[in-house]
Amino acid sequence: MTTGPDEAVVCRGLTYTFRRGRRKGGDTRAVDGVDLTVRAGEVFGLLGPNGAGKTTTIRAITTLLPTASGMVEVFGRDTAGRRAEVRRLLGYVPQQLSADAGLTGRENVALFARVFDVPRAERSARVAQALAAVDLTEAADRLAGTYSGGMVRRLELAQALVSAPRLLVLDEPTVGLDPIARASVWERVDAVRRATGMTVLVTTHYMDEADRHCDRIALMDRGRIRALGTPGELKARVREQDAALPDPTLDDVFRHFSGRGLARGEGTEGDFNDVRRTRRTANRVG
Ligand SMILES: Nc1ncnc2c1ncn2[C@@H]1O[C@H](COP(=O)(O)OP(=O)(O)O)[C@@H](O)[C@H]1O
Ligand SMILES: [Mg+2]
Repeated sequence: MTTGPDEAVVCRGLTYTFRRGRRKGGDTRAVDGVDLTVRAGEVFGLLGPNGAGKTTTIRAITTLLPTASGMVEVFGRDTAGRRAEVRRLLGYVPQQLSADAGLTGRENVALFARVFDVPRAERSARVAQALAAVDLTEAADRLAGTYSGGMVRRLELAQALVSAPRLLVLDEPTVGLDPIARASVWERVDAVRRATGMTVLVTTHYMDEADRHCDRIALMDRGRIRALGTPGELKARVREQDAALPDPTLDDVFRHFSGRGLARGEGTEGDFNDVRRTRRTANRVG
């Protein structure tokens, strides 16, 4: 496809509530009236502490949750009415493990190629290409169970890339990785993006990564977008509004707009389930 709207993703009034039984306490409004637009070709970061609602927003955009309230469009297609079409445009690396330890790297990627309807005649070439794009050619025929955390994450990236998505969605792609593995995940994403013009939507709670790699970011807290713009714009806004911060970091920006700090645990840890979910992710790749 050569033409398309300038917007890769548009959310309007997106709201999602997890219903819980009365005995277990109230409902959780995980996403609360989110408006955001991801422009075609950009790297857009959704930032916020554990429990902010990032994954729930991502799951609505990738059609894995029904849009209970509000509207989501991916390249002009409504996710409610054109779900299958939307899915064909996306590559998604979920927060949870999506690679199978008992298969080789190549077999893992081939499985995704089949599921995502890569034409049979092109499959083995496309699988090899995706593995090469994440620097796993040499390790391709080893069991994924023998891979390091960074390699597993790059394998999952290859799984998402094999269908040549126009939009790549990454949920905490670097959580639990050492700095070198984190940098290598970003390098691979950047290289594919430069080559294909693919749009990237990424969640992270690492402010430094977002600052370096995202064209624009949305700061999310308690289900809402607290601020949105380029890292430079957001810092400039804080600089204007707070004389005590002549050279604000993104952490300062977050604190300014949410009223609390992000990195140093000022009541931003989320509840037990949030921690458990994040840990589980960190363990499996660590
Ligand atoms: N499956 C679920 N059932 C009930 N509550 C959930 C579920 N998933 C997430 N939540 C709650 O929704 C809120 C947002 O969670 P989530 O979208 O996972 O945040 P994030 O990805 O930013 O850490 C949190 O309060 C979390 O506890
Ligand atoms: Mg999450």
